[in-house]
Amino acid sequence: MSRFRVIEFQLLQACNASCMYCAYNQNLPKFNKWLPLEIVEKTLAEEKPEWVWFEGGEVTISDKSKEYLLRAMEIGNKYGVKNRINTNCRNIDPQWAGRLADGGLQFACVSFDTLDPERLELLRGFAEGTGAENLEQLKANALCLADRGVTVDLEATVTRHNIHELEALYDYAESVATNGRNIIMGAQCLVATYDEAFGLYPKMDEMNEAFIRLTEKAKNGRIPLRICCSPMVRCKSPALYEPHPNIIWVECSCGFDYVHVNATGDVLLCGFWDHTRTIGNLNDASLREIWEKSELRRRAMTEIPENCEGCQHWEGPDRCHNTCFSIVHRSTGSFTSFAYDLTCKAITDAANRRPL
Ligand SMILES: C[S@@+](CC[C@H](N)C(=O)[O-])C[C@H]1O[C@@H](n2cnc3c(N)ncnc32)[C@H](O)[C@@H]1O
Ligand code: SF4
Ligand code: SF4
Repeated sequence: MSRFRVIEFQLLQACNASCMYCAYNQNLPKFNKWLPLEIVEKTLAEEKPEWVWFEGGEVTISDKSKEYLLRAMEIGNKYGVKNRINTNCRNIDPQWAGRLADGGLQFACVSFDTLDPERLELLRGFAEGTGAENLEQLKANALCLADRGVTVDLEATVTRHNIHELEALYDYAESVATNGRNIIMGAQCLVATYDEAFGLYPKMDEMNEAFIRLTEKAKNGRIPLRICCSPMVRCKSPALYEPHPNIIWVECSCGFDYVHVNATGDVLLCGFWDHTRTIGNLNDASLREIWEKSELRRRAMTEIPENCEGCQHWEGPDRCHNTCFSIVHRSTGSFTSFAYDLTCKAITDAANRRPL
């Protein structure tokens, strides 16, 4: 039985922000219940993955949600699974940072898109506070976690609004990685779970150039850079992918050793997948049954675009897998098209539709 590297649970749908690119903004029916901890317990007991990731919505939205998170992490601890959260860090003050660290939190992926207060407001749309106040609070809260021994990934979700800031964000992350704090920078490329998201994408050549500058900086820097869901595939941008110990490319692991579970119990190949295309529900069957029987997953693993046939990166150590094949399936209903071409066209079409 192959072991999951990551099982990601959405503990609740509710959020305290309204980010302009949020993958979960898919006109889903509102669901106000929380993922039952019995489901977390049963799944972790059966699968014992390397990591469990907890997220929302926003898992730190209230004291009640943070208490719930502590109980969920206790389950991770019980089965020897490492705990991670994905968070906007808005409600993690020094006291809560201590409680979460003591509760077994090992890694926090903190959304950190910009150093510009106005841009923070534009991208993240917090209901309260000025951009400047929110940015200061975000910085302070993220550092509290790092000061309590949690590894903090300051992660920018890359859009055309913040692509020019990536190097400055690396410099910032490096500047605060002092006093034994374990801090890395993350760059999460935008995943177009719904069509409007293509309008927020930078142009592909602009993205390529920005990532070349960013990776060059990280090669000479003190902290690692972790890049997820890059649409600039290896065959098109080989120079970008020259191996370096400071650069971690997280290639697509949909259908492979990572899985996402919504608060409803619905299982998805990825949190950024089209949320109407679930592969099962944990209220009805075990994760293993769903995983082994899923026809969508079988097709995702076996249908190969012509361009990728025989490529060393397909199932090699990098496992590129035609990043991002969620985009392909949503627009073609199959996995046999080349994601890069579709993504380039969708970005250009969206840019052409924008008023001058
Ligand atoms: C879905 S959020 C949930 C956790 C938390 N609310 C937060 O924003 O950090 C997890 C991460 O996904 C990123 N994200 C959201 N929508 C995305 C999209 N369409 N493409 C790529 N990343 C996205 C967020 O910026 C965040 O870093
Ligand atoms: S904070 Fe996270 S879950 Fe909430 S709207 Fe933003 S990206 Fe989505
Ligand atoms: S798997 Fe496909 S998209 Fe990825 S590098 Fe190989 S040919 Fe390119």
